[in-house]
Amino acid sequence: MSLLVAPSLLSADFGKLSQDIEFVNNSTADWFHVDVMDGVFVPNISFGFPIMKTLQLEARKPLDVHLMIVDPDKYLAEFAKYKTYMCSVHYEACTHLHRTIQNIKSLGMKASVVLNPHTPIHVLNDVIHELDMVLLMSVNPGFGGQKFIPHTLNKVSALKKMIIEKKLPTLIQVDGGVDPSNARALENAGANVVVAGNAVFGAPDRHEAIRLIKG
Ligand code: DX5
Ligand code: ZN
Repeated sequence: MSLLVAPSLLSADFGKLSQDIEFVNNSTADWFHVDVMDGVFVPNISFGFPIMKTLQLEARKPLDVHLMIVDPDKYLAEFAKYKTYMCSVHYEACTHLHRTIQNIKSLGMKASVVLNPHTPIHVLNDVIHELDMVLLMSVNPGFGGQKFIPHTLNKVSALKKMIIEKKLPTLIQVDGGVDPSNARALENAGANVVVAGNAVFGAPDRHEAIRLIKG
């Protein structure tokens, strides 16, 4: 199966958001990647519930919500209300990660945990069986358009090994600096889903960019 692609709306044109949402609706992309940043966990502020509301009304593909916020538990019910399909929380932001995962699932969302580039995969050893997906950051979170960190490929391979050894169905997603030049290597290492912001919204032919990343 080819890679699933989740275009990151962080790279969309917010003056023409409906047009960019419609582009994803009519493309071969699979999910909408929605980057929510609070200016505390990451050094940037993106958007919150008003955009979630627009997406709930206009998006016709699953909403893949990446929460770069402290204390995500406070807001999970509201993200569930806006039809979040996959809810990703950062390992580095959750003191009681197991409880947060249970909260996500009890609200009817799929649960995913994100690891920053410096966080080793073994921290998930006792919780991975609870997860629908693991998101490996291939840049330091906070901004679109950064350079892919090549060591991510080793992390994807090691995580794939862990998932196979434990006989789990957990998906692997990679986020940051993904483009046609590294997508095949990520797929071969075991990635199932990739996020692409700049590589899709910044491309002269956005449909072709998605096609090249999917493989
Ligand atoms: C970074 C975000 C990413 C980002 C990806 O903090 O989590 O989803 O928007 O953008 P590109 O693909 O441009 O690196
Ligand atoms: Zn993201």
